[in-house]
Amino acid sequence: MGVSKDAGSPGAMDFVIAVDGPAASGKGTIAEQLGARFGLPVLDSGLLYRAVGVTLLAEGGDLADEEAAAGVALRLDPARLDDAAFRTRAAGEAASRVAAYTSVRVALRDFQRAFAGQPGGAVIDGRDIGTVIAPEAPAKLYVTASPEARARRRWLQLNETEVPYAEVLADILRRDARDAGRADSPMRPASDAVLLDTTEMTISAAADAARRIVEAARARWETSRR
Ligand code: DC
Repeated sequence: MGVSKDAGSPGAMDFVIAVDGPAASGKGTIAEQLGARFGLPVLDSGLLYRAVGVTLLAEGGDLADEEAAAGVALRLDPARLDDAAFRTRAAGEAASRVAAYTSVRVALRDFQRAFAGQPGGAVIDGRDIGTVIAPEAPAKLYVTASPEARARRRWLQLNETEVPYAEVLADILRRDARDAGRADSPMRPASDAVLLDTTEMTISAAADAARRIVEAARARWETSRR
């Protein structure tokens, strides 16, 4: 694991920014830009679930097999998330399937909490960062957009241009329903998260809005520490 277990618990946390929201809402780009602005390391937690799903399938496993998925999660090396195979449509779907298993979520939890507990803080994007992984985070954003806007963005990004827009929209709707409907750590805004609807925004306008929200949270956090 790339992060020391002694890094501290998120309870006593430095400046952690939790960026949650559904697929293709822009949260990944926003998280990267916030990391650069505040000089913090960034974790795309979706990649952990993507790596589990893709590795399970590559080993000939079945996405319906919770025990096998948990086994993959337990031996996952979070230093090796930089693989183009984790960024495909199929990887997103596989990730959403394995993410519904409590044993998989538990196996990935300590690493995410240790990442959040790094001295100085961190930015983490995902679905349950503000609610479960880092509920004490001083800055929480829930980035959303209409399913149609998100499907259009995803469709334009995909290299697999033969995929019809309607299929991408169906993917997004299915994934939203699974991620928000699961029993363990469902996708939802924390009660103290600031909602950012990016439907009508360019990505740079959305990133600017996110930066302003987090600057305000940072000022409050600094005041509270005096
Ligand atoms: O953010 P993403 O599209 O890369 O996430 C892929 C899937 O992983 C998503 O559909 C649900 C799951 N996920 C999760 O359950 N919890 C997270 N913190 C991040 C992702």
